[in-house]
Amino acid sequence: MTRYAMITGASSGLGLALAEALARRGRNLILVARQRDPLESIAIELTQRFGVEVLFRACDLGEPLRLSGFLLELEESERYIDLLVNCAGIRTYGPFLAQEWGDEQDLIEVNILALTRLCHALGNAMAVQGGGQILNVASLAAFAPGPWMSSYAASKAYVLHFSEGLREELRRTGIKVSVLCPGPVRSPLRRVPRLEKGHRALSPEEVALHTVRALDKNRALIIPGRRNRWLAFAPRLLSRWITRKLTGAINQAYSPR
Ligand SMILES: NC(=O)c1ccc[n+]([C@@H]2O[C@H](COP(=O)([O-])OP(=O)(O)OC[C@H]3O[C@@H](n4cnc5c(N)ncnc54)[C@H](OP(=O)(O)O)[C@@H]3O)[C@@H](O)[C@H]2O)c1
Repeated sequence: MTRYAMITGASSGLGLALAEALARRGRNLILVARQRDPLESIAIELTQRFGVEVLFRACDLGEPLRLSGFLLELEESERYIDLLVNCAGIRTYGPFLAQEWGDEQDLIEVNILALTRLCHALGNAMAVQGGGQILNVASLAAFAPGPWMSSYAASKAYVLHFSEGLREELRRTGIKVSVLCPGPVRSPLRRVPRLEKGHRALSPEEVALHTVRALDKNRALIIPGRRNRWLAFAPRLLSRWITRKLTGAINQAYSPR
């Protein structure tokens, strides 16, 4: 049976870089995002460059009914997905009360509900097949409360804790679970002019390369960049009061204006 790696959010940024890194290693892919056209062009390009099979599926993961339809299709197709990369994610920024509720709901639907549901559905399929690997994309923001992007940081804290818990639960089933917590990545999600001017953000390609190597080693927690590893550790040394103030100040300083 042909094996596939399925990547959500594969049309842009980090998801695209992960798709390319996996295709480079000869993996057949299933790419998922909302917009069909970019997925189609990427599928053609990756097939031509790396000679792998690349399927794609346009699906709004924030729409539970569409996700149900997609999962049913996958089940009926009997394709064996032995690597699931949950990379699709959205972010709201600014005062919580000023956000449109629809945007907040989308964030929870995509970052939390869809990710969890995909782990459940494909995790069960992997268990039947005798194993597989799941990579969930969280963020450095997962390690501390994040004023001015409170729901985003909280959604990523969920992804971090859920993934670590799941890893332990599935340890004896042959399903490996890892969680990626990147710091700032130069990508469309992060359109923050002040940050783009700086040079602290890694490129999606750098993060993807680090990640596929870490997946080979079955790392539980993947944090590309030494500085980012320190930043993830720092909240453990500080009181929660100081951490809240600090992350709030940093988030405000880098706010899109
Ligand atoms: N960029 C950073 O600095 C950074 C840092 C830490 C963690 N991360 C995390 O890394 C992941 C990727 O971020 P990125 O910066 O690469 O983002 P990005 O370039 O904006 O890409 C987001 C991807 O998700 C897809 N997507 C968005 N909403 C979707 C939906 N409702 N259903 C299906 N697909 C959807 C988008 O495609 P469509 O628009 O076609 O749907 C796109 O392919 C996210 O989980 C993010 O939280 C990013």
